[in-house]
Formats: sequence, structure tokens, C-alpha cells
Amino acid sequence: MTARPMLELVGLSKHFPVRSPFGRITGAVRAVDTVSLTIPRGGVYGLAGESGSGKSTIARMIMGLTRPTAGDILLDGENITGQAGTRAYGRKVQMVFQNPGSSLNPRRTIGQSIAVPLEAHAYPRAGRAARIGELLDMVQLPADFARRYPHELSGGQKQRVAIARALAVAPKLIVLDEPTSALDVSVQARLIDLLVDLGRQLELTYLFISHDLSLMRNFAEEVGVLYLGRIVETGPTASVFEHPAHDYTRLLLASVPVISAEEEAMRPRIELIDGEIPTAEKLLARRQASHLPQDP
Ligand SMILES: Nc1ncnc2c1ncn2[C@@H]1O[C@H](COP(=O)(O)OP(=O)(O)OP(=O)(O)O)[C@@H](O)[C@H]1O
Ligand SMILES: [Mg+2]
Repeated sequence: MTARPMLELVGLSKHFPVRSPFGRITGAVRAVDTVSLTIPRGGVYGLAGESGSGKSTIARMIMGLTRPTAGDILLDGENITGQAGTRAYGRKVQMVFQNPGSSLNPRRTIGQSIAVPLEAHAYPRAGRAARIGELLDMVQLPADFARRYPHELSGGQKQRVAIARALAVAPKLIVLDEPTSALDVSVQARLIDLLVDLGRQLELTYLFISHDLSLMRNFAEEVGVLYLGRIVETGPTASVFEHPAHDYTRLLLASVPVISAEEEAMRPRIELIDGEIPTAEKLLARRQASHLPQDP
């Protein structure tokens, strides 16, 4: 017996009307064109493709924010094509968006923002503060962040809050639409590590959307390459990377920056302390410990 997949898209399509300058419908854009894919329970599927290839439209259909033109969406074996967007549905699927700044209300504290889904899903009032602390801890932020405002946080910290909020109602599937593309490379990597850890602990299933194939390599078990709304290549991540069958995949792979040996040698070296980029305090402590001359 095989377990039911967590998510199945079957022949999913979305066409948008094209209008003339006078508003007459003159045709249709096939933003998503008969896309089928399956993500097993606890699996990580990477959906790659250039800007405009239809990635976010797929995410929006899964979230029930856009109605498909054709096809079916099965979540945990249940056909949810017409009923997405309900409360019961939100408990199963949550999404993390690209821009961590715009997804948080600047007038709400972090705690208040995380409380929104708890309220929406009627989480007992008495347990909310403790749950918020627990969620912050899951994304490795201190509990006192609950009292802070978004402008006091870095981009990476805001994205951790967005993840905490997505986890609030214990969903099974999380759709990540370019969750790290607004962040520095080192912050991206740590966020991916966090997502991997959370995925294992909480047995989450991820649909990870990105134009950056290099990020998928360490995260996704299977990838699909989207081109003009169609999946042109799919398979286990390693085999797609090693033997790309489609020209477009090769092109996407070629655009991932590869650092040459010479460039690598010229990169500034930062001495890591305990595997981390040192803070000013740690550097000072180290200098004092080794009696090196100090800055005036
Ligand atoms: N509401 C809409 N009305 C008309 N066309 C749309 C609408 N939403 C998306 N499109 C079109 O559908 C296509 C796919 O867009 P989509 O946003 O899904 O791409 P994407 O892969 O997420 O791109 P990006 O990497 O830039 O986020 C594009 O041609 C876009 O212009
Ligand atoms: Mg998009």
C-alpha cells in the first residue's frame, strides 16, 4: 500500500484574458498550462523557472486565491479545487511570501502578528501567549521579540516571523514562494537550514518556489522546471542537475553563478568563531585572550 501524496496537481491550467487598449478581449495568456505534479508526505518539491513562467500563479491556485481554468488540486487525497480559502483549508496549507517586509503589519507587534492566525482559527485565548513564545522558539528567535515591531527586525528575522506565523496553526503543507530572494546569500542559507530542520521535526511537506536553481540543490528532493506555464523537465534533484535533458534547464543552470578558482582565491576571508561569522564582541574577546594588539 502506498501512502496518499500530500499534494497532487492534475492538469492544472490558468488562462488570463488579454485585452486590447480599448478593453476588448483579444486572446488569452496561458500562464499555467496543464501542470501535473505530486509531492509525497514530508517531501520537498522545488519549482523553478524564470520570471513570468507561472510559479506564483500555481501557488495562488493552491492557496485558493485564484481559480483554475482547468484541472484539479488534491490535498491529502481530498479534491479541494473549489473549496480552497476556507478555515479548515487554512489549517492544512499555509504560504510564505517573497517580501518579508510587506507581509507584516508595521503597526502590530510581532506577537500581535503571530496571534492573527491563532485568533482566526479560534486557538484558546489563555494559551496564545505561550504558543507565540513556542513559535518564536521554533524559528530560533528570542521570546521577547513578541513585543518588538517589524522595523526593529532584519529581513531574515522578519522572514522567520513569517514562518512562525505560517506554522501557528500546524499546517501540513507550506508553499514557499521565493521566501529568500530578498535576502543576502548567507541569510538565505541559514533560513533554508531552518526550513529543513522544521520540516523534519514537524513532518512538513514543502512546495519551494524559486528562480534560483542553486538553492534547490540542497533543499528539494525533486524539482520541476517551468517554462511558459509548462513543466518541461522534472525528476530527482540530483539527476536533473547532473543530466539536464531540456535546453531551458541547461540555460537556467548556466545562469547560476559559478565561482572560478581565481575568484575564490580573491574572496575576503573571515575567520569563523564556532562556525559563525564573528560579532564585534567575540572578536574583541578573542584578541584579548590572545594578547594581540588592540584597535585604539
Ligand atoms: N492577474 C493576472 N492577470 C493577467 N495576467 C496575469 C495575472 N497574474 C499573472 N499573469 C501573467 O501570468 C504569467 C505568469 O505570472 P506569474 O506571476 O505566475 O509568474 P512567476 O513565475 O511567479 O514570475 P516571477 O518570478 O516574476 O514572480 C505572466 O505572464 C503574468 O504576466
Ligand atoms: Mg512569482
